[in-house]
Amino acid sequence: AFQVKLSSTGRVVDVAAGTTVVAALAQAGVDVPTSCEQGVCGTCLTRVLSGEPDHRDVYLMDEEKAANDRFLPCCSRSKSAMLVLDL
Ligand code: FES
Repeated sequence: AFQVKLSSTGRVVDVAAGTTVVAALAQAGVDVPTSCEQGVCGTCLTRVLSGEPDHRDVYLMDEEKAANDRFLPCCSRSKSAMLVLDL
């Protein structure tokens, strides 16, 4: 499990194992637009301000993944205890 923080409000949301970031955010009332929900389309692309995403998608190129400045929260997770998102 890890946490995501919304930079706009400072709110911290827990993402339990077995739950996606998108689902955890939706439960907290924050809707991220999605389409494929499988890391393919790029619709849910979200900027990461700090923390290290655990990229699970097939949308971003390797260099983009390595930059750790955006991720796809429908499927990707976090290697760090917290990700700060530009939401
Ligand atoms: Fe398609 Fe996240 S909804 S990549």
